[in-house]
Amino acid sequence: MTDISRRALLAGAAAALPFASAFGAEEPKAPGLNAHAKLKGMFYGAAVSGDALANDAALMEHVFAESGMVVSENAFKWSDIHPEAEKYDFSGADALMKWAGAHRIPVRGHTLVWHEANPAWLEPALSKTTAEKILRDHIKTVVGRYAGKLVHWDVVNEVIHEEDHKPLALRDTPWFRALGPAYIDIAFNATAAADPNALRVINEFGVDYGIDWQMRKRDQLLALCADLLHRKVPVQAVGLQAHLDAGEIAIDQKGLARFVADIASLGLKIIVTEFDVRDQSLPASVAARDTAIAAHGRAWLDAVLPNPAVLGVLSWGLSDRASWLNTKFPRPDGLSQRPLPLDAELNRKKLWSAMAASFDTVPPHGPQKS
Ligand code: G3I
Repeated sequence: MTDISRRALLAGAAAALPFASAFGAEEPKAPGLNAHAKLKGMFYGAAVSGDALANDAALMEHVFAESGMVVSENAFKWSDIHPEAEKYDFSGADALMKWAGAHRIPVRGHTLVWHEANPAWLEPALSKTTAEKILRDHIKTVVGRYAGKLVHWDVVNEVIHEEDHKPLALRDTPWFRALGPAYIDIAFNATAAADPNALRVINEFGVDYGIDWQMRKRDQLLALCADLLHRKVPVQAVGLQAHLDAGEIAIDQKGLARFVADIASLGLKIIVTEFDVRDQSLPASVAARDTAIAAHGRAWLDAVLPNPAVLGVLSWGLSDRASWLNTKFPRPDGLSQRPLPLDAELNRKKLWSAMAASFDTVPPHGPQKS
């Protein structure tokens, strides 16, 4: 990093001092990940759980220090925000909006259509004659409530699943069964109508490695996006969830960079939406895991960040204090995984340094809307 950019980084950090006393700034904390990202025209952010927001002030101070964007891990999902057919519960979403507003940090919305995290009433209520109105009403209500206050919406999440053998390799979900592929068109058009200013994202996992099913999924995602764009469906960006596995095969950087370039060639932006690096299959040694996780995450980011269509990176949480991975992919030895930039004591890890270094070494993207 040049001396100029280091000075800019520190100046930026001083301006955003989260720990400064009211009576004069303390020494600037070492700049957060977002300060590194901003220097190159990108952002860094993190997912925030309702529990951390309500009960972990120390973690939230670090979220503020590191982040230029936040996303709720669960509060904007149907299960939380629309628990009964005639009842919305905005308490969790509003709590994050209040915190983010007070800290002047943009919020992205996650997610409007998914096959998971749906309330019990939804699937039985969906039919060919009811589904469109249910979907449009939900999007109009939820997106409308936060119109002008959210920077992105993950409009549809994880819609590709070739094992279901449906057209365009679409997943066989309750929405697909009720409306066919058109549910995606309806969701994007309803979102655009409810908040024209929020960037509309199709969010997907499992496109990170040069292995057969992920290479096919890359092609399926590109084909779906091309089909949507051809039919003037207002999709604007692809979300790469980037749930990585340090025990997985090595990152094929050339192939990954080509995939990102293929997305950009469609005129779409790219956001890394749920970055984390699991160590489920690695030996117990913390030092060895941290080293492997940092190297793996760095290799992936170094292949993706250089593309000017990439707007930024959010990790799926900030600290190893809590990660979905310990539930979904527990280590056989029962140890907590170490997938995120800060450890459970909120110290910066090798992964934090690897992410900062990847931002520092990428050519500047120039100014762009996040
Ligand atoms: O809040 C309830 C609590 O009241 C209850 O006692 C408890 C036990 O049933 O469940 C709690 O809700 C859980 C929620 O997380 C909050 O902890 C849900 O059961 C659980 O299913 C939910 O898991 C979330 C999962 O998505 C499903 O929505 C994870 O936290 C979240 O990290 C995960 O995130 C997803 C992204 O949205 C999409 N991409 C994949 C990613 C990982 O699966």
